[in-house]
Amino acid sequence: MEVLNQLKLEFLSKPENIGLARLTVASFAAQLDFTLSEIEELKVVVSEAVSNAVLHGYAHKEGMVRIEATLYPDKLELVVADQGQGIEDIDQAREPAYTTTPDRMGLGFTFIESFMDEVEIQSQPGQGTWIRMTKSPEGKEPEV
Ligand SMILES: Nc1ncnc2c1ncn2[C@@H]1O[C@H](COP(=O)(O)OP(=O)(O)OP(=O)(O)O)[C@@H](O)[C@H]1O
Ligand SMILES: [Mg+2]
Repeated sequence: MEVLNQLKLEFLSKPENIGLARLTVASFAAQLDFTLSEIEELKVVVSEAVSNAVLHGYAHKEGMVRIEATLYPDKLELVVADQGQGIEDIDQAREPAYTTTPDRMGLGFTFIESFMDEVEIQSQPGQGTWIRMTKSPEGKEPEV
């Protein structure tokens, strides 16, 4: 399908960069006719995915977080990837309230799944984590 626009963003795994990623992706996504509340949902999704890369993937060590966003006529595709410690059991990590950090809620993936249309997660312990997500503006369901 026709690519309308593409964004690649790479930054060090510092918590300060979570807000940067969130605003950059939101203003990029606004080129498609998402509603304001869909843009708010996308901001939450970017924050959750990048927080996971920073806090869990690199666990406060330094590494690069990579974002790729692609606009198609009917959807946004978002990839968030890190080369951190990876996830042992992806199905378990996706369960609501599952967390490996006792003071957290374990709801990041739950928000991501509820706000995005498709969510695909690949991860290898010791290698990193790759998440691909798509979202279509309301009323613009993709052709199958
Ligand atoms: N990028 C990642 N690298 C390594 N582990 C991850 C990554 N993303 C998620 N995980 C693992 O999956 C678990 C669930 O993630 P999720 O975002 O749902 O919850 P959380 O981050 O623990 O809590 P919350 O997002 O509510 O603050 C995490 O506790 C962590 O063990
Ligand atoms: Mg999280």
